Amino acid sequence: MNLGILISGRGSNMEAILKAIKRQKIRINPAVVISNNQDAVGLKIARRMGIKTEVVQSKGFSGTRWEYDRMIIKALQKHGVTEKNGIICLAGFMRILSPEFIRKYRHRILNIHPAVLPAFPGLHAQKQALDYGAKYSGCTVHFVDEGVDTGPIILQAIVPIKDNDTEETLSKRILSKEHKIYPQAVMLIAEGKVKVDGRKTSIKSQGR
Ligand code: GRF
Repeated sequence: MNLGILISGRGSNMEAILKAIKRQKIRINPAVVISNNQDAVGLKIARRMGIKTEVVQSKGFSGTRWEYDRMIIKALQKHGVTEKNGIICLAGFMRILSPEFIRKYRHRILNIHPAVLPAFPGLHAQKQALDYGAKYSGCTVHFVDEGVDTGPIILQAIVPIKDNDTEETLSKRILSKEHKIYPQAVMLIAEGKVKVDGRKTSIKSQGR
């Protein structure tokens, strides 16, 4: 299996996944990191870790969403991340994917969201949870479908919200959980342990 990671910025989830692959020997080949932003800090981290990188600049691109996504797909396929043998992790990739892209890689695209879905989808999820007065939030790894943060859930982790939390302190605590469950989800997928049935996923435990 070949893994492609799509990023736009600092790439801390990407780094957590790449480190886990090296350390825990997840049976997946980290084939490429692709960014829509040439200045993404994560690109430097990936290169330092010896991972191939590609930039498909989105700023200034005037074509359709699908035309842009076709360039991403070309970059993925160049590195063997195909619809037969590929897994794609969105890790702070700040673009919505076209339905054509999602259909092509159905149940092969993962995303991490910094809230316990279906609560607080979309942008600024940590601030949404604080403003709502929630006592708990957390993070979710899910398959990407045609909606925004609506695909089948693979793993979730819970983080208590403290009275004095700010968006920054809460985001930081949630992020440390993200760095645990995202690599774990990639490992489960790589081991073929995740089964999808409609909206629901089930995880095969050892010996079953
Ligand atoms: C994370 O908070 C993730 O949940 C959200 O975007 C942020 C990406 O951070 N989807 P990083 O680039 O992985 O550090």
